[in-house]
Amino acid sequence: MSALTQSRAWRALASHARALREVHLNDLFAGDDSRAESFSAEAAGLFLDYSKQRLTRETRDLLLGLAEQQEMEGWIARLFAGEPINHTEQRAAYHMALRAPREAVMAVAGHDVMPEVHAVLDRMTTFADALRSGRWKGAKRRAITDVVNIGIGGSDLGPRMVADALQDVADGPRTHFVSNVDGAQIHGILSSLDPSTTLFIVVSKTFTTQETMTNAASARRWLQDAGIEGAAQSPHLVAITAAPQKSGAAGYPAEHTFTFWDWVGGRYSLWSALGLPLAIAIGSKAFREFLAGGQAMDAHFRSAPLDKNLPVILAMSGVWNRNFLLCPTQLLSTYPSRLVRFAPFVQQMDMESNGKRIRKDGQPCNTDTGPIIWGGLGIDGQHAYFQLLHQGTHRVPVEFVGVLNEDTPLPLAAEHHRVVNLNLRAQAQALAVGRDEASTLQALMAEGMSAEQAEVFVSQRSFRGDVPSSTIWLDALTPHSLGALIALYEHKVFTQAAIWGINAYDQWGVELGKTMAKQMETPRGASHLPPAGGNA
Ligand code: F6P
Repeated sequence: MSALTQSRAWRALASHARALREVHLNDLFAGDDSRAESFSAEAAGLFLDYSKQRLTRETRDLLLGLAEQQEMEGWIARLFAGEPINHTEQRAAYHMALRAPREAVMAVAGHDVMPEVHAVLDRMTTFADALRSGRWKGAKRRAITDVVNIGIGGSDLGPRMVADALQDVADGPRTHFVSNVDGAQIHGILSSLDPSTTLFIVVSKTFTTQETMTNAASARRWLQDAGIEGAAQSPHLVAITAAPQKSGAAGYPAEHTFTFWDWVGGRYSLWSALGLPLAIAIGSKAFREFLAGGQAMDAHFRSAPLDKNLPVILAMSGVWNRNFLLCPTQLLSTYPSRLVRFAPFVQQMDMESNGKRIRKDGQPCNTDTGPIIWGGLGIDGQHAYFQLLHQGTHRVPVEFVGVLNEDTPLPLAAEHHRVVNLNLRAQAQALAVGRDEASTLQALMAEGMSAEQAEVFVSQRSFRGDVPSSTIWLDALTPHSLGALIALYEHKVFTQAAIWGINAYDQWGVELGKTMAKQMETPRGASHLPPAGGNA
């Protein structure tokens, strides 16, 4: 594969970026009354406003030209055809099958996987409904009131984020999530629970992850100490894994085990049986609506022309910011409190997928690849680290996520909603527009400063602006819209990987950490051990 940076489309973009260097976002809005409309798109119930990205119609055309040069439509077809595009593991990346309708035909290596996908989905939702109705009882014949998900990484972040986001529609047993292995986290949760009414869901694709196995051992000991059968066949334990031979060897019986497949990446697996705590919390109907939202975005991604394709537009504006505006990080700023865990979830999805420097052909990338994704609740950030965005030396592109309609049961709900979205819009506007020195001088003198004083402080009180952002608006935060939002980001990540020529679906780097931990357990394992001390 020739150097991407020498390609026609890339060189055209690099030249275009130089031509735009002195252009400010304010210049792009000036005299373009149709900019807001021209730089927006919608699909699957989501509305994307990318008018505050630092790009022109020519930029967009050149970016789409790069996508075409990199055979984006061909890669989308390969993804949905179940080809082994995860080439280092010789696997498909077929998480879309998990949310496809029963009648769809989706094959991996010529084998239609839909019958088994829906068999597991039906079994998982039936189990969830049995728990919700109280038909499933613990060892002391009491219904389950609390569910503890024990997992880490992709076996935790997705289900945990969705459980938070959809808590307003949760009417089943309470859900809790344990990932850290320090003991304090699981202790803090267990100390508030009753063993006779608690179910543990042990989630591990490989069923070997040390943190998860350690937490599961503590959970089983907690049950046993309470006189509850803590053996793996206990009605207080279920396993979710792609390695049932491992969970079986650990004593978890098949009837308490839900499986998924190796063509489902851990960070893409929340649509599978990993959704069990969600189906228990919100019910199987709402869980299927969540799947339908993801499927709606899949249908859009497969069929929409590139210039109207939300994942492609989001991805290409990210490539523009990363590779041509040379921004090393990307801020993800969600304004609904319920989406507090969306940024950490996308961090794993994006950085574990595109944090790579070797191309599919085995050669080093000659471009930068995945940005550092960071973020959280925007309303907190604007009273904290947004200072750096406004006046720092980094240019940090922002993706804002907001909800147009919320019905919080509060007397002043409308005012809360107005204020939170006013702030989202104000931040995007302030970052884009800034305030030049002439306007700042006026403002300072309007505050009562003399012209001389204003001259002293004008540089500290001015704002460069020109910070690019996109805003994704959900009509409302529902299972369907959340499913569509997650799938949007999954396909954005895939699109960027295709542009950079990297494999989004393996994760040898984070596997190293697991391996190193095991090596360091044997004294000869690793040579750079810290000096012995404490009780390590
Ligand atoms: O950190 C490496 C990793 O394999 C992630 O990719 C994965 O989501 C996590 O550990 C948990 O792995 P498992 O589901 O196999 O326990």
